[in-house]
Amino acid sequence: MPRPPCLLWLLAVTFSLVPRAQPLAAGGSEEDEKSKTPLPAVPCDYDRCRHLQVPCNELQRASPTACLCPGLSSAAQPPEPPRLGEVLVEAEVGRAVVHWCAPFSPVHQYWLLLWEGGGAPQKGPHLNSTVRQAELEGLKPGGAYVVCVVAANAAGESSVPGPQSQGLDSAGGPAFGPCGRLSVPPRPLTVLHAAVGVGSALALLSCSALVWHFCLRDRWGCPRRGRQNRRGL
Ligand SMILES: *[C@@H]1O[C@H](CO)[C@@H](O)[C@H](O)[C@H]1NC(C)=O
Repeated sequence: MPRPPCLLWLLAVTFSLVPRAQPLAAGGSEEDEKSKTPLPAVPCDYDRCRHLQVPCNELQRASPTACLCPGLSSAAQPPEPPRLGEVLVEAEVGRAVVHWCAPFSPVHQYWLLLWEGGGAPQKGPHLNSTVRQAELEGLKPGGAYVVCVVAANAAGESSVPGPQSQGLDSAGGPAFGPCGRLSVPPRPLTVLHAAVGVGSALALLSCSALVWHFCLRDRWGCPRRGRQNRRGL
């Protein structure tokens, strides 16, 4: 009867694997302490997309009860690219607020790159590792831009696909990458001015047509002659 031992063995393997399968990210120095007390499966209050988010290892250090952090890539490697989130354009003031989410990597600082058409990008100021949003200013009405978020640590910078990347979806949003398109609509006032301009031009045209018509009538005194004259033209 080979079946019951086989099942027992399977159960034993499963149960011995379960505790190990939990994603534990223990802080190195506290290893000894933690091996004595069992770790609770409580994630730390960490959101990689939250602005001014304290790094998870600092939360762990400050927390009175142990909590779990997401695993990170090695600090000896440059960070993975952050993920661009919402980009809110305020067309009236030529400004945009860019949001992003941290990569699962140790990050020391972030900055934004902004392309307008081809050529070299403008580099934004360096932002500390808690920052998840930044403002772009001086955007031109009707302008089209590409914005990318860069993360850096002691080992280097995250990769940037650049403005000609295929990492942007057709709607212009970020396709889970560090870059996105940003188009600033023309100023509403400009549109209004254009409409008023076209309207007054049309009004002026019809006025002058009327004036011209009545002046001719007055000069020749007879509408029939006016018509003949117009035919002659
Ligand atoms: C990081 O930058 C933000 C925004 O400039 C600031 O409010 C925060 O105090 C900074 N945090 C640290 C730890 O320097």
